Amino acid sequence: MKTRTIRIGLCGLGTVGQGVWKHFSASRARLESQLGVKLELHRAAVKDPRKKRAVKIPAGRITTDTLAVATDPKIDIVCELIGGTGLARRVTLAALARGKVVVSANKALLCAHGAEIFAAARKGGGHFFFEASVAGGIPIIKALREGLVANRFRLIYGILNGTCNYILTRMSLEGAPYAAILAEAKKLGYAEADESLDVEGWDTAHKASILAFLAHGVWVKTDRMIVEGIDRVSPIDIRTAATLGYGIKLLAVIGRDFENNELFVRVHPTLLPKDKVLANVNGVFNGIAVTGDVVGTTTYIGRGAGQDATASAVISDIADAVTLLTTGKAVAAGRPEQGPRVRLAPLEHVISRYYLRMTVKDQPGVLAQIAQITARNRVSIASVIQTAAGRTDAASLILTTHESNERAIRSTLADLARLKSVLEKPLLLRIGEFTD
Ligand code: HSE
Repeated sequence: MKTRTIRIGLCGLGTVGQGVWKHFSASRARLESQLGVKLELHRAAVKDPRKKRAVKIPAGRITTDTLAVATDPKIDIVCELIGGTGLARRVTLAALARGKVVVSANKALLCAHGAEIFAAARKGGGHFFFEASVAGGIPIIKALREGLVANRFRLIYGILNGTCNYILTRMSLEGAPYAAILAEAKKLGYAEADESLDVEGWDTAHKASILAFLAHGVWVKTDRMIVEGIDRVSPIDIRTAATLGYGIKLLAVIGRDFENNELFVRVHPTLLPKDKVLANVNGVFNGIAVTGDVVGTTTYIGRGAGQDATASAVISDIADAVTLLTTGKAVAAGRPEQGPRVRLAPLEHVISRYYLRMTVKDQPGVLAQIAQITARNRVSIASVIQTAAGRTDAASLILTTHESNERAIRSTLADLARLKSVLEKPLLLRIGEFTD
């Protein structure tokens, strides 16, 4: 019997695309023998063919016509590695409409257009695989869809952005300056082309939206989440958190209250007790703790960004796509459960402890004014620390609170902003004492 040839097209040859080309070429023979097919990297579409690239690709295999790769009848699997939501969306929809398998690392696209993409796949007979979109090399999509299919998920929380974890780790271990570390994260191929997506929390939010969809069957857009980044976290916060027994991590938290059928998705820098596994996940590594009602908590750790980790996930999707094309069977279980439609939790149901750092006038009565505001908002103070603020007339005042909720803390912040003795916008961090 003649061995079938499966042809793959790459759209985009940036950091991830080149990684896929490199590692796929190196492991092609082994993959062919494992999958029982011949595999061919048929064509790659790029914006600028003259750009210097680390991988050598024959000129005849390169084109600038990205849509032609997506619609080429010879190509079975289209890898969309362009990023963004413009051309990437057109490429994805065009390939799905022709019944192709699309493999994507594009978390922003999925978060913004997930429902449209899956509908297009159903209509056109295509399939959409996206293991590389969340947590780089960690097979978290597979874990949720396959390994944990018996479970419902009360809590998922995780470090989903390698760039931010790299920055926070180096700030905490070496006290290195923020801007210099960010520049290094860019050089290492961790950061997005627009790094504000990383440091302002949007990239984590896109990934959280995908995990929430897999776990709960609804797309939560970023404007329905709390999204805060690491750009205002300073060495003083890292030092104070360490003194209190915490590390600071940018976390996505997806919580579900099954009794009231409510869901929340939030992204923010979080003080995590040092004895939690994820508090010790450092550098570019990501980590995700998933609490299922049958299995309990399982934790996943691995490189969350960078060429090699992401290529590993893309190639795993290519292998699954080949299995689908040759056997007609998808490896993963079908669509996420579509139970009674879950509601987004109101802010007063989103509970946390809080860390609040303020730069205040260093004079009598200021602490009393602040305490009056917290009392009025029924926010109970757990501890108060005062340190120097780097100027003679002011001090840094750091409060931690007992459990409160997002509504009460927002109102507290609004009241504090009106105080003349509070000199800058306070920094709010959450304290994540998760019961796994
Ligand atoms: N910029 C992303 C990160 C890349 O730092 O995690 C992986 O999605």
